Amino acid sequence: MNEFGTKYRVGIFGSSHGPCVGAKAEGCPAGSKISEAIIQAELDRRSPGKGAHTTPRAERDRLEVISGIVEGKATGATIVGLVRNKDFDSSVYDSFKRVPRPGHADYPAMVKYKGHHDHRGGGQFSGRMTAGLVIAGAIARQVLDKQGVRFLAQSIQIGSVRMEKVVPFSIAEKVARANAVGCADRDTAECMKDEIVRAHEDKDSVGGIVKCTILGVPAGVGEPFFGSIESDVSAMMFSIPGVKGVEFGSGFAAASMKGSEHNDPYTIRGGKVVTKTNNAGGVLGGLATGMPIEFKVAFKPTSSISRPQMSVDVVKKVPVELEVKGRHDPCIVPRAVPVVENCAASVILDLMLQGGFL
Ligand SMILES: Cc1cc2nc3c(=O)[nH]c(=O)nc-3n(C[C@H](O)[C@H](O)[C@H](O)COP(=O)(O)O)c2cc1C
Repeated sequence: MNEFGTKYRVGIFGSSHGPCVGAKAEGCPAGSKISEAIIQAELDRRSPGKGAHTTPRAERDRLEVISGIVEGKATGATIVGLVRNKDFDSSVYDSFKRVPRPGHADYPAMVKYKGHHDHRGGGQFSGRMTAGLVIAGAIARQVLDKQGVRFLAQSIQIGSVRMEKVVPFSIAEKVARANAVGCADRDTAECMKDEIVRAHEDKDSVGGIVKCTILGVPAGVGEPFFGSIESDVSAMMFSIPGVKGVEFGSGFAAASMKGSEHNDPYTIRGGKVVTKTNNAGGVLGGLATGMPIEFKVAFKPTSSISRPQMSVDVVKKVPVELEVKGRHDPCIVPRAVPVVENCAASVILDLMLQGGFL
């Protein structure tokens, strides 16, 4: 299945080493102001940066809008946006048709598609597909911005380096957007960069955690059970390559808390119903409480490492030592930060449209 959503429906297409990658989005309210420059800015955040902490694949993703936006406004027709693939080298990927790379989709895809899948650069499983997710999300967030809904994703852990400080939303937004690892604290960002460089020098990789905060979602948004905010956000987040865990609010720590600690007491602030704490992560019964929606997304260490690894030749059925020679991020977390943020926007727009909030 390659489509997500009920009222705001997002599909992605293309492959890592094909002509392009992109997204189609249906259900964006006609007349919504959509700036292509803002979509481009989000794509630029996802593009590889410079330096040892990111992949040398030097590709500037230039947005092309094919349909659905005219003179800065959504027309109501399907929006199609894409970026062309230019800087790629498929020559190193041929052997992976027989010798699957550990940690990649090569083996299960080989079985599912009987060897006919596009294996170049990970094909449709590549992290490059997230450019399409960013395009669709950057459209959604512009619609939501007018409703006062704001999104911030930030790196709070890379390898063993954790962000311990709590930084207010508006400061975190500025700082996290201004540094290469998307961390809301400059000193921690430097330590995170060092951690990535060390992993790279060691011919290895590191993972990490992205935290996402959403402000301004009105209480009541979300659907019970299968369309809950947690269900839909998690389904979207687990569609991002490399994601291994999603937790809302206190998450797994809730398991060892008492009810008296975990329940968020209600109070009135400025005439509004709010809670004193936010262990719920802004969601109860699958519906927004009106408090910030907070969730964390765990990313695994990048699968492609330049150390030799063991695999098998699936035809000869013999063990093979494999070296992955392509160009890769030693840590995908910095580039995943805008992906998480924009993916969250697609889900919230869909739920707000479903609930009649727009
Ligand atoms: C923005 C982004 C960039 C990525 N870049 C790489 C990469 O350079 N090398 C790599 O091995 N994996 C990369 N990944 C992750 C792989 O695509 C992913 O681990 C692989 O397709 C297997 O899917 P899975 O980890 O979800 O099971 C990236 C993921 C994202 C979100």
